[in-house]
Amino acid sequence: MSRLDSFIRRLEAQRACLEYAAGQIRDLPGPVLEFGLGNGRTYDHLRELLPEREIFVFERAVNAHPDCIPDPAHLILGDVRATLPRIRLRLRSLAALAHLDVGTGDAARNAELAAWLSDALPPLLAAGAWVASDQRLRAPALAEHPPPAGIAHERYFLYHHRVKQQSCD
Ligand SMILES: C[S@@+](CC[C@H](N)C(=O)[O-])C[C@H]1O[C@@H](n2cnc3c(N)ncnc32)[C@H](O)[C@@H]1O
Repeated sequence: MSRLDSFIRRLEAQRACLEYAAGQIRDLPGPVLEFGLGNGRTYDHLRELLPEREIFVFERAVNAHPDCIPDPAHLILGDVRATLPRIRLRLRSLAALAHLDVGTGDAARNAELAAWLSDALPPLLAAGAWVASDQRLRAPALAEHPPPAGIAHERYFLYHHRVKQQSCD
């Protein structure tokens, strides 16, 4: 497969996963967390899909289309490993959806960041929240969900945050 075809399929998978996850959270309150503003494409798509939601965007350096830059209250600037641990106080409630797109061309660095996010993200998610990610996450609280129909396995990842079991005590 050419790199062009591979790139197009990745974007198709990304869009399909975002649209699937956005559909799943219609009845689940809570903000959206977007990791990796980049050009602002997925942020723009998320705000179109979920116009009523508050979206917090994590990015270390803004380089987005001018129309796709969140207002300062919703743009969390800096390395996510420094900013995410401080965000809980700014969230009025736990997140209903998170989208992780912080991958670069460096596979070792991507794996390291994905491992860090696998630990750091779940405590910020509401029970029943959804996660779409460019990297595989490994967290007991995140159940991997198959991609939408027509999307190749492992091109993009979907997770459902497990609902806590009710205690019988
Ligand atoms: C693939 S781009 C995101 C593309 C974007 N979702 C879009 O659709 O335009 C990845 C972004 O993640 C950001 N990023 C990578 N590592 C980061 C980190 N540790 N903390 C914060 N941002 C990071 C990069 O600066 C880059 O803008």
